[in-house]
Amino acid sequence: MSIIKVESLSKKFKQAIKEPGLSGAVKHLFTQKYHQKVAVDEINLNINKGETVAYVGPNGAGKSTTIKMLTGILVPSTGKITVDGLIPHKERIENAKNIGVVFGQRTQLWWDIPVIESLSLLKDIYEIPEQIYKENLDKFVELLGLGDFLHLPARKISLGQRMRADLAAALLHNPKILFLDEPTIGLDISVKERIRKFIKEMNSEQGTTIMLTTHDLDDIEEICERLVIIDQGRKIFDGDLQAVKDAFVRERTIHFQMKNTIKSLNKNLEELPSVKIENIHESRFSISFDRFQVSAGEISGHVMKYGEVIDFRIDEPKIENVIKKVYDGNLNLGNLEKEGETSDKKEIFIHC
Ligand SMILES: Nc1ncnc2c1ncn2[C@@H]1O[C@H](COP(=O)(O)OP(=O)(O)O)[C@@H](O)[C@H]1O
Ligand SMILES: [Mg+2]
Repeated sequence: MSIIKVESLSKKFKQAIKEPGLSGAVKHLFTQKYHQKVAVDEINLNINKGETVAYVGPNGAGKSTTIKMLTGILVPSTGKITVDGLIPHKERIENAKNIGVVFGQRTQLWWDIPVIESLSLLKDIYEIPEQIYKENLDKFVELLGLGDFLHLPARKISLGQRMRADLAAALLHNPKILFLDEPTIGLDISVKERIRKFIKEMNSEQGTTIMLTTHDLDDIEEICERLVIIDQGRKIFDGDLQAVKDAFVRERTIHFQMKNTIKSLNKNLEELPSVKIENIHESRFSISFDRFQVSAGEISGHVMKYGEVIDFRIDEPKIENVIKKVYDGNLNLGNLEKEGETSDKKEIFIHC
């Protein structure tokens, strides 16, 4: 059952056309010209309870506009939305009880009062029972490390601290759905890691449905199981992340560690199609290959002829390769079906 249903959703903005310079600005006062910007263009999207969805696309693609419509901040121009059975812009208050929202670019904390006071105000606004508030606050203080700055006003804390406090604020009322718009933007790697771990935990332990926009590919890799790509307001791709990676990222690398030092590797191995031997260093080396031309098993079979393999590891394919293919228009359902990779996976489709 879909918890988020989006049908033919569009949002058009009226944008002023101004000629450059002062005379342009003056002219605009008298002869106002506008054009219509279609920010979101006939999007269909169903998200099930507990899913983790990365909603990605270039700047200006319409990601934030979609999130704002789903949270009831903006009214759609056309199309239908239901979020847990409610129409967000018509039932804003009811909808707010079901959702948590974090916009990386702005905070929902009050600027001049201590963070703990903001959280306490949210408790009253959302009518959170004392017991739940206390349990959640204790949990978030621990998981997000809020202790050091709970008593400082939002304006005095760093961006990373602010984002952690905002996450706590968004989740205090145990929402079913969490919308995150660029939650890791501008943060250093250790804070990013902490935030990702926390979001994953909320998903796996509370079953919170996650919809995330991000420019950070590691956010996608670590948090999301499903990838939706939009470009110029249109959905151009929607699919299971792992299925897409398995099907489309051909290159794999295996790192071997042998018992003894390796001086050179024999010709048979190098003559396998697409095989490249890299980084031979004492007892370690790596082999990269195209998995459509040769199998990992074949390679391991050859390697074992050199001696005892103590350890080996296959690199996970990177999502950036997939995204690049989508933008280049090289990814389509035809290929995927031909390779027979998706029989038991979620539907994958592409409109272009
Ligand atoms: N309030 C607004 N008024 C006019 N145009 C807007 C407004 N908000 C967004 N837009 C335009 O809509 C398009 C999509 O914006 P946005 O949803 O913020 O993109 P993204 O979040 O993917 O970067 C952009 O061209 C942007 O300039
Ligand atoms: Mg945005």
